[in-house]
Amino acid sequence: MCSIIGYKGQLIVAPLLVDSLKRMEYRGYDSVGIATINNGKILVKKGVGKVLDVNRRLDLSNMGGHAGIGHTRWATHGSITEKNAHPHYCCTDSMAIVHNGIIENHRVLMKELIDLGHVFKSDTDSEVIAHLLERYYAEQKNIKSSMIKTCKRLKGDYAFVAALEDGTICGSRCNEPLMIGSVDTGFFISSDILGFIRYTDKAIFLENRDIVVIDSKTLQIYDPDGNPVNRSLTQVAWELAAIDKGKYSHYTLKEIHEQPFIVEKVGVQNLDKIEEFCNILRNSKTVFLTGSGTSYHCALIAKHILSNFAKIHAETMISSEFQYTLSGIDNTSVLLAFSQSGETADVLQAVNAAKRMGAKVLSIVNVPTSSLARISDSFLTIECGPEIGVAATKSFTAQLSLTYMIVDELCNGYLGFKINRQILVDALQEALAAENEIHGIAEKLRDARDIYVLGRSIHYPIALEGALKIKELSYIHAEGIAAGELKHGPLALIDVNSYVIIVNPNDTTSDNNIASAHEIKARGATIIGISNKPDEVYDIFIKIPFIKCNIIYPIIEVLPLQILAYYLSLVKNVDPDYPRNLAKSVTVR
Ligand code: G6P
Repeated sequence: MCSIIGYKGQLIVAPLLVDSLKRMEYRGYDSVGIATINNGKILVKKGVGKVLDVNRRLDLSNMGGHAGIGHTRWATHGSITEKNAHPHYCCTDSMAIVHNGIIENHRVLMKELIDLGHVFKSDTDSEVIAHLLERYYAEQKNIKSSMIKTCKRLKGDYAFVAALEDGTICGSRCNEPLMIGSVDTGFFISSDILGFIRYTDKAIFLENRDIVVIDSKTLQIYDPDGNPVNRSLTQVAWELAAIDKGKYSHYTLKEIHEQPFIVEKVGVQNLDKIEEFCNILRNSKTVFLTGSGTSYHCALIAKHILSNFAKIHAETMISSEFQYTLSGIDNTSVLLAFSQSGETADVLQAVNAAKRMGAKVLSIVNVPTSSLARISDSFLTIECGPEIGVAATKSFTAQLSLTYMIVDELCNGYLGFKINRQILVDALQEALAAENEIHGIAEKLRDARDIYVLGRSIHYPIALEGALKIKELSYIHAEGIAAGELKHGPLALIDVNSYVIIVNPNDTTSDNNIASAHEIKARGATIIGISNKPDEVYDIFIKIPFIKCNIIYPIIEVLPLQILAYYLSLVKNVDPDYPRNLAKSVTVR
């Protein structure tokens, strides 16, 4: 989604804002803008493109002032143009705002404001906030009461920050993240810790509908009715500050390579909490598993191993559909939600719906301070460090590993995850060594129109994940298919131009997959096998290491698919870190 940053303090603000926006760009990267307050005037510079490009063109870092706001956008209302980029001014240019979320009643508010003489310059829902604030500020010249009145009028999910020409910075949130970073020189206000972690590890997490006003040197937080409230200072992890690409050309490639180290350590510091999770899971009648995108694919594998090995009744529901199928959820149920960011709106909506039905909520997140972690009865962190590449890679293998660890605990080690962890880590290293070979395969697939990815049983979610990675990173149409479903329709699509990847480690599903491969080959398609065992049916073979404990294979077999998707993006000239139209953290429904 969009990222928001604000700062007020002793330092020159513009370079700070630009630096913070670069770090949060994964949230949205259609356009960029900053506003600074200099000598009682608000200056705005904004443009279409990523932070580096716009900064190069417009010299954003070179604006004066010690207070300001900044934004990177992921368009919801209004096309990707300079006029729709944030910040947005009010009519008199005396205040400017940046916003993340959707103002659902913006049309009604706009009409009312236009009738009062306000002139709108953009096609966004966000601009209405600037004009509302301006309207109420004109009445009493009191920013606190203007904020209270403005927020009371807004319907929808939002986080916004406003800058006033007198140097005041203020903001509020409702179901979108907004937090304060406290530094010796002043205060940051941001939609993500990454916006200020380089400067401070002291954060204040605003509650829903809190209103914050930073004027001269003081920061005040109020509830929606204007009563002062205290929010405690939390110390957040400094490690988040280390987000550079190291020796890699892209974050995505770096994150793919980090996976063995992450799998090696995930969960080991959290044995008590894992035990607590296990107790809650054991005592539930049904475990509902949910997530969006890649995290949903982890939920699918979790269902498989929970029900087959821990013998716990489990159901999966994709988060965006969850609210439509609530029957069966009650106070004997547990909802286990997976989310890297912990801020995905669909996931939060599912969790809130389950809570209303009386279910207990567990979550597996990467960000311990996220909204999801904070509303869960108990949560575990995957501790894989910030994932900047928009397409999830390391967070997926970390989620999977933690899930295996929990289920292994539930079935007294039957899964073999714990005792085979080092073997798994070595296998992941070996799988990464096939990178050059897979690069070559990507060259061959450069002009592919469609790629189908097939898998059965526990490998089916990996087929879905592989296809998702190919779509996200290379824009090639890709579909994950349960191999047994091929003959029930998809086979009609197969011809000599088709490429079919079969995720097929040598286990009980393998022979059936080979039979499917022959059916596909008979229709002229090119078959790419991902397996520890070669077969003459594969036109192209990607070897993954042999391990005895084959139930763990999903954690290994996803790597060649991630690498293939990464190199397909390069051969197609696509930036793998920032695929078009996507955002890492989708905080709107
Ligand atoms: C977005 C991202 C996906 C991600 C999904 C869920 O759509 O582009 O890569 O899998 O959100 O994100 P979460 O943070 O909830 O795991």
